[in-house]
Amino acid sequence: MAILDILTLPDPALKQVSEPVAVFDDELRAFIDDLEETRRNGPAAVGIAAPQVGRFQRIVILDCSTTRKPVPNHGRLVLVNPEITHWEGYEMAREGCLSVPDYTGNVIRATRIHLVARDPQGASLAFDMEGYEARAAQHEIDHLDGMLFVDRVVSRRTDLFKRKVYQKGGKIK
Ligand code: NI
Repeated sequence: MAILDILTLPDPALKQVSEPVAVFDDELRAFIDDLEETRRNGPAAVGIAAPQVGRFQRIVILDCSTTRKPVPNHGRLVLVNPEITHWEGYEMAREGCLSVPDYTGNVIRATRIHLVARDPQGASLAFDMEGYEARAAQHEIDHLDGMLFVDRVVSRRTDLFKRKVYQKGGKIK
């Protein structure tokens, strides 16, 4: 396994749209192991997306089971080709990102979603998610479409906040 380099703003590659995974093989699963090791390294992020390490395929890892304040969650998920098929409600909350180390921001997201995906073997998955986990999934799937949370803040003047210290756990995606 290996810890991969994380692309950060203003790297233009973060704007690239990622391709669906077509082949579910050992090479894919070895990459997913590296992506997970990278997520756990440093400020233990609740999520990471393949394009953040320069692999432009639709792969996300999500784990909202270890937040300081417990939230409803499905444990650690590897989501290949994830798609949100239903959205409900909206709520503004603070987000951070491994690719945006210096800022957090207030972002409006749906409060409940239905999500379908494949697992690393290619089997179908489906989840109803709410709250923090739903937010994290929306944040990670945005990475697959070349979107960062800073692209979603209503006002860069009032909704972006400079980080003083890189906070451990909790809010980093
Ligand atoms: Ni992120």
